[in-house]
Formats: sequence, structure tokens, C-alpha cells
Amino acid sequence: MGWFGRRSHSEVPSWASFFDDERFRAFLTVVEAELVSRGLTYELGDGVVALHGPGVKDGLTLGLQNLAQLCNHEPLAAWSDVVSGHFAGMLGRDAEEAELARRVHDFEAVRPSLRVRLYGEEVAGPERVTWPVADGLTAALVFDLPTAVRTVSAEDAGRWGRSREELYAIGLANALKEPVEVEEVQLEGGGVVQALMGPSFFTSARALSLDVPDDHPYGALVAVQRLLGDELRHVRLCAEVSGWLGGLDDLDVDLSDVGPPPGGEPPAARALLLVARELVVAEAESLAALRAFRDAATEPAVRAALQLLVADEALHVVVGRRLLPLLARTLPRSQTGPTLARLDDLMEADRRELRAAYLAAARGGPGRALGASLEPRDLRWSRPAPRPRVA
Ligand SMILES: [Fe+2]
Repeated sequence: MGWFGRRSHSEVPSWASFFDDERFRAFLTVVEAELVSRGLTYELGDGVVALHGPGVKDGLTLGLQNLAQLCNHEPLAAWSDVVSGHFAGMLGRDAEEAELARRVHDFEAVRPSLRVRLYGEEVAGPERVTWPVADGLTAALVFDLPTAVRTVSAEDAGRWGRSREELYAIGLANALKEPVEVEEVQLEGGGVVQALMGPSFFTSARALSLDVPDDHPYGALVAVQRLLGDELRHVRLCAEVSGWLGGLDDLDVDLSDVGPPPGGEPPAARALLLVARELVVAEAESLAALRAFRDAATEPAVRAALQLLVADEALHVVVGRRLLPLLARTLPRSQTGPTLARLDDLMEADRRELRAAYLAAARGGPGRALGASLEPRDLRWSRPAPRPRVA
């Protein structure tokens, strides 16, 4: 279950007293995203979390204080690495980390996995290999591992005896090899918008190789965004996987029903509805289905593609759960009141409808190993998290 229904917004428990409210909430967000991405349900106790779900002993209880302390000594941007590494170790999926630790002394062995990745400025610090990019933006040297991205420590890089310039050049060159699609939109009256889209975490590193002449009168405006970008790359990824399996030519893809639901609500109520229904409910239900497809698929490339979707969607669910109470608290109640009164019923109806649709589509059939079919028994839903308390 989610933690929002259970705790007030101004209480940091004594086991995490070194956090302020904001950092404590961020810590829970990162932990929650990690557990959701692993398909686990969880209950928060006093400084502990009890886990249920695939691959763990039911009710396995892990302490959170050490993890919180570890995070407290790291910049916020590194927390997902720290949390992911912690649970990988605790849950016995640390083979990847162990393999990296074994090879990290050998520069030529790790060189192909080095990338430069764009982060917020919080990641900058002497313990990592980073470069300032612009206000609020930092580039960091990372390892691109099969299921995770890890920042390179200054200690590791120090052993390699390579200059910062050389590491940057290698990391950026590797990042720029990731596939990317460029779309150009001619603006009326002159000017071009260039959209770069790609399935990789390193697509945004393209912003580091902009070819803008120094004497250009206006420079370039660069924007990087994530959530809608995630959804676009999911579509591309799925299309690509379909291509491996024979293409889309024989399929009749019906998108007529896709889009935000119609409604004549005031803007604030509409924002609340979209977050509640699209992010909190629809993303969570699609996450359950994606996990089922991932677990059923045995073909490694398809499984890896589905794991990518699962990790992104878990983050979207958590973003929705964070956003909903914030909107409910801050948007004018005069606009949102009637919507709030019926929100639980709407969300429950959506949830039921989506689950029925997923179940109806899970009819078995060929292609299970390739992520093409499910059986009803594959679909297991956790109890829905209670709607975040907003009063
Ligand atoms: Fe999503």
C-alpha cells in the first residue's frame, strides 16, 4: 500500500530525524518507486518496511534507517542509485554490482559502458566525476549497466589515470552512439524546432553536442522533459519490438479511444481528474499488466524491453501519488470540491474497468515467451493504495 494515507505531511519520524519534511518525503518517494518497480507491495512500520510479492519471503522486513542515513550523505540525484543498489543487495540481485566491482579497476574492460549523462546540479560534488553544463545542469560520468545506471566515483576514475577531458570525450562519444530520431518542424515565419527522441537514458546528452556557432546571435533554446518523453519512447520501443516479431503491417491499431476523457470541469478540477485517473489509476493498472508480461516473457530482449517500461511506469505511478495530494491541497477548493467528493468512486470505477479489460484480453495463445500473450492467472493486482488524504 502507499504511505500517503497513513501519515501526515509534517511528521518526520524519529528514526529519520536528520531529514527535514521535504527530504523525508523525497526519500519515501525514491524507496516507493524502487519497490513498485520490483512489483512488491509493502507496509511501512516504524523505521522498517515489510515486503510482499514475487521473489521475497512474504512479510520480509527490512530496516530503513541505515538506508536513510546513506541517502542523507548523498545528493538527492544519487538517491535512486543508492536505494536501488541497497535493495539489489538486500534482495540478492547484486550479481550486476558484483560484476562491476570485479572489473572496475580495468579501464579497458569498463570503457564501453561509460557514458556522460545529464543531471540536475545536485549530483555535482567531489565524490563524482562531473562537469557544470549550465544553470541547474550537470553532466556526470556513469556506468551504463544492463539494468541500471551508476555514477562513476571519483575514486574509481582516479585509478584509471585518465584526464577529465579524456573521460568526458569517451563518455560523450559512447552516449552519442545511442539511437536517436531527429524530427524537424519548420516554424511559420522562420526558425526550426528540432525534436530528438530516443529510447535511451542518454538521449538528453545530445544537448552537450549542439552545433551552434559561437557568434550565433540568439544561441539555442534546449528543453529536456521526461514523462511525456517516456510515453513516446514506450511507443517507439513497442513498435520496435513488434518489428522484431514481424512488423505492424497485419495489425489494425485503433487509437480512436485514446486521449484524455472529455469533460467540462473547471481547469483545477480537470487537472485533479487527469492526475488521479491517468497517473494514479491507469498507470498503476498498466504497470501490473506490464509486470505480468515481463514475468511471462522468457525471450531476453523482449524481457529487457518490458523491464524498461516497468521501471518508467513505476516512477509515473509514484509521481501521480505525490502530485495528487499536492494539487488537492493547493488548487482552489471552490473549483475542486465537487470533484474531490466523487473522486474515490471515479477512481474505483476506472480501476475495475481497466482490470476487466486486461483480464478479458488475457486469453492465452501463442507468443507468450515473446511477451505477446498472457493468461488470466498471470495478472495479480496488489490492493490499491488508498487515495492520498487531502484534507
Ligand atoms: Fe506512464
